[in-house]
Amino acid sequence: VSGTFSGPALPSLGIRRLGPADASVLELLARDDADFDLRADGPARAALSREAAEAHLSDPHVLHWVASRDGAILGSLFCHLLPMRKQPAQELLLYEIGVRSAWRRRGVGRLLVSAMTDWMRATGIVTAWVLADNPGAERFYAACGFGPGSGPAVYLELHL
Ligand SMILES: CC(C)(COP(=O)(O)OP(=O)(O)OC[C@H]1O[C@@H](n2cnc3c(N)ncnc32)[C@H](O)[C@@H]1OP(=O)(O)O)[C@@H](O)C(=O)NCCC(=O)NCCS
Repeated sequence: VSGTFSGPALPSLGIRRLGPADASVLELLARDDADFDLRADGPARAALSREAAEAHLSDPHVLHWVASRDGAILGSLFCHLLPMRKQPAQELLLYEIGVRSAWRRRGVGRLLVSAMTDWMRATGIVTAWVLADNPGAERFYAACGFGPGSGPAVYLELHL
């Protein structure tokens, strides 16, 4: 889904899905990672190599939308399409969303989620889930229609 959306706070905002030619966008998102994150003073991140970025962006299970205005990227939403072992055969993991710190509370995040849900409707994907890691994000997801998941879950990691 791509297009131009209008709202009272943002006169003109373009939303588009990234494709294989957008490796430079991943570079920018890695460089400015902290500005899209909760802690604006965090470090830059190492970008994928150009080849790895192209492979990542060519993967049909990768869905990545960006919001921009006058050529400047203001927000990003990155999802994984997950194959399941039973019906429904696929669901969507909203892995990461970030809006530049100076552009928050102006509807950018909501428009990115709308691009995702438009794509879900067009594709027949009925479930998306996310792990919210801060109270503001929880309220944002609630405002976008997310509700509590169906079971208790504890987030764990394994590092080798
Ligand atoms: C979460 C985030 C993506 C929201 O993006 P945004 O563009 O600011 O959100 P929107 O302006 O579209 O907000 C839509 C609605 O969500 C709710 N909302 C958004 N941020 C909120 C906050 N910090 N506290 C409470 N409610 C919030 C409000 O109801 C808001 O509508 P309103 O402004 O008319 O009251 C953005 O705050 C962000 O990038 N945060 C840092 C990264 C992060 O936390 N990502 C999620 C990690 S799980």
